[in-house]
Amino acid sequence: MVASAPGKVTLFGEHAVVYGYPAIVASIDKRIYVNAELREDEKIRINAQDLRTSGVIVSISNGEIQITTDYGRTLSAIGYLNKAIELTSEYLGVRKGVSLEVRSEMPVGAGLGTSAAVSVATIAAYSACLGYELSKDEIARLGWEVEKSVQGIASPMDTSIATFGGVLKIWFEGNTIYRVPLHVGSELPLVVSYVEREKSTRDMVMWVKSLRDKHPELVNGILEHIGRTTLEAEKALVGGDLREIGVLMNINHGLLEALGVSSRRLNEVVHTARMAGALGSKLTGGGGGGASIALTLPDNIDILTNVLKLVTPHVFRTNIQYEGVRVNHLSD
Ligand code: MEV
Repeated sequence: MVASAPGKVTLFGEHAVVYGYPAIVASIDKRIYVNAELREDEKIRINAQDLRTSGVIVSISNGEIQITTDYGRTLSAIGYLNKAIELTSEYLGVRKGVSLEVRSEMPVGAGLGTSAAVSVATIAAYSACLGYELSKDEIARLGWEVEKSVQGIASPMDTSIATFGGVLKIWFEGNTIYRVPLHVGSELPLVVSYVEREKSTRDMVMWVKSLRDKHPELVNGILEHIGRTTLEAEKALVGGDLREIGVLMNINHGLLEALGVSSRRLNEVVHTARMAGALGSKLTGGGGGGASIALTLPDNIDILTNVLKLVTPHVFRTNIQYEGVRVNHLSD
């Protein structure tokens, strides 16, 4: 069996979604693939050599140059794989050994939803191997459990978009997840750039939680404004008003910056994009480094892409893609 699930960009509302406010998220044309084959024994064997990482990080501290790698990100993606197998076994009441092979078309741990895509594709592939066809609702719910149990705290946003695909407005109350598919009124020419990740999504979610505990009124106000920005953005997206979407992306980035989840490098990319004619730009996902998105008019996309490449080598254009999780027999 091979299952795949798409990565995503959060257009509006990350972090606020953890506190019940709505977010708007879109699947992208880059996927995670998980091949699963049952084994005779009880073991779980994982071959994740192809989980691409964003590579080597060079930093200067106390005048010394330090070189580290992103290997740890691959290891943390493997944590999601293991948990996905464990929770799927528990849910189905069946446990069998499995060999898993994982391939990624996107950088791991950059804020593009790779951990959710890994979890969702693993749940789909493993359950199919065991002879079960889970509904998308079941896959998304199990995926959310995986994220909560690995990260400690997570919204159902990333696992919902990896499962259903498209463009979704998402929010949740307790255990109830609300998902509204949006029909965007125009093409969205988006450029994704990413810089080295200084902190994980979990770190950044915990940071916002501690800031909120310390300054509840201020932080709740910021989160509420992010929620309102998302609702304004919904109208602009449905109406295909690119200029208005851009303005709202800039507002959303400013609010995320106020929460302390941006970084110097992310701000550099976000502001360079605006100088190169982007209608709007913002970090996307957990922040603390990682991915950002810039929206432009179609005839400016080459200039925007080339200028962004001057500040980071990791730049790609993306299309919003409408297919969520997919399962195929290897012989298909
Ligand atoms: C991470 O892609 C998005 C966050 O809102 C966390 C979450 O929703 O679980 C930062």
